Amino acid sequence: MEKNKLNGKKIPWWKKTTIYQIYPRSFKDSTGNGIGDLKGIISKLDYIQDLGVETIWFSPFYSSPQGDFGYDISDYLNIAPEYGTMNDFDDLVKNIHNRKMKIVMDLVLNHTSAQHKWFIESKKSRDNPKRNWYVWKDGKKPFGKAPPNNWKSYVTGSGWHYDSHTDQWYWASFLPFQPDLNYRNPDVKENMMEMIRFWLRKGVDGFRLDILGAVYEDPKFRDNPLSWKLIPSDESMDMLFRSSKYTTNYPDNYEFAKDLREVIDEFTDPPRFLLGEVSGSREELRNFCGKDSPDGLNLVFLFESMGAQLTAKNFRKLIKDFEKYFPDPYIPTWVFSNHDIIRRISRFKEQGAIEKAKINTAFQLTVRGVPTIYYGEEIAMRQNFLPLEKSLDAVSFKFKKFPRIIRNLLLKITNYAIHRDGCRTPMQWNRTETAGFSPSRTDTWLPVHPNYKLVNVENSIEDKDSLFYCYQRFLKLRQKTPALNSGNITLLDAKKIPKNILGYTRSAIFNGNEQTVHVYLNFGNKLVSFQIPEPNFHLIISTSISSQPLNGQNITLQPFEGIILGD
Ligand code: NOJ
Repeated sequence: MEKNKLNGKKIPWWKKTTIYQIYPRSFKDSTGNGIGDLKGIISKLDYIQDLGVETIWFSPFYSSPQGDFGYDISDYLNIAPEYGTMNDFDDLVKNIHNRKMKIVMDLVLNHTSAQHKWFIESKKSRDNPKRNWYVWKDGKKPFGKAPPNNWKSYVTGSGWHYDSHTDQWYWASFLPFQPDLNYRNPDVKENMMEMIRFWLRKGVDGFRLDILGAVYEDPKFRDNPLSWKLIPSDESMDMLFRSSKYTTNYPDNYEFAKDLREVIDEFTDPPRFLLGEVSGSREELRNFCGKDSPDGLNLVFLFESMGAQLTAKNFRKLIKDFEKYFPDPYIPTWVFSNHDIIRRISRFKEQGAIEKAKINTAFQLTVRGVPTIYYGEEIAMRQNFLPLEKSLDAVSFKFKKFPRIIRNLLLKITNYAIHRDGCRTPMQWNRTETAGFSPSRTDTWLPVHPNYKLVNVENSIEDKDSLFYCYQRFLKLRQKTPALNSGNITLLDAKKIPKNILGYTRSAIFNGNEQTVHVYLNFGNKLVSFQIPEPNFHLIISTSISSQPLNGQNITLQPFEGIILGD
């Protein structure tokens, strides 16, 4: 049960937690087949605990033909054999909980694999009992040989796929081998809710929900209207002049979020949580958490931060925007990298990249919100810019046929999102072959980044000024400091501090005592000196282990230095 009280209120653990995302295929291979697995992960839990994160989210490791590396599930109640067995899973849960950490699984509700037994049945005939478990429609009249309407998938053209055997079309929001389930059929909904309970009973502490805004579409199957947007953005998924009004964030999805919340709230000791992968306007994102009261998803990813340029001005604006839409008792999330997008550090110029990553970290771990760190981010793992021609990612298949110049242009404008192998390469543990990812000399499923002899856990641990230790110091401080893990946030007036400085205070009344910390982050590449309001502030932590920023009321920050002061 929750013991801590903040401002007299109980704070659920998930509101103050820090999340570490593991892509199971790429974390640690225990068998030598070049693919990561659960036993491998278990062998590295000490490392994760030592880093100081509290919750681990796993990208899917359910049974799957791995067409989309686990996001195409063929059996929701089993573990893919290449990752291990159900016993290994139980061991994983036990080992995580023994460390007082939490486990979050990825839940792909929107679609199954086309190899799921339900879809195999569903395809057999129009009157098969499983037919209505998926979204089937006749083609456009008079001949039925055109898709039922103009709906586009996120990654291919039309999201409708023709089945000649039954002469109908099925709907797939993502790739053609990921047919959408039909949640308007109560049997589907009931079955999936029971599946969720199965994992909750096994001790899972929460779920990350894959493309949740795509679960329900317009029941009338109306054409999506025209939009003036060419490429999708954080504000809306509209693209190529087509809106996604009837296919993304259709209002029934917000109700579904509440239904899911009811299911996880059946489990109270400890409470569980839901973290939605959703996109759209901030208002839409908030709707997933509950428009008027927080009775929907506990958290949603706010992906705007991912591409944000590293400036005080940008981050100040993001804080304001997120606080406006997610004020207490809602809580924002902060994420910079994941398995779908270019690694954050590779957005920075190589020169000074580590210092920039440190200030980014200091920001992410001190601002109000739940942070998610992507495996390897803590040791400065870079994007492995692999050629599109060799990519294994199903999303990129159609682009392979394009002329080189177009391919390169697409890579640039989508920030490598059309080919996601580069952010999924094996974790770099040490300087030995395969970077210590696989136990023997072997071909790893994706090539290890060529920089592994320099960038790896072993080197990071030997260097006291490494990015790893910066993460560790901030994470451990955050863990024991209520003002940082659950306090409110007040931005300092930008006019009262130099241009490149972002300043805020975090404060909380914890068990009757007031606690306030003051955060100053220098986003500029120049040394900056200025006055702080109180002479008696003291330094708690800095991104740099050698600097002495305080001299009375005068503060001097190195380029890209971030500090926390206490009263
Ligand atoms: C979003 C996931 O993050 C991505 O990796 C996956 O390919 C799609 N959803 C489809 O499930």
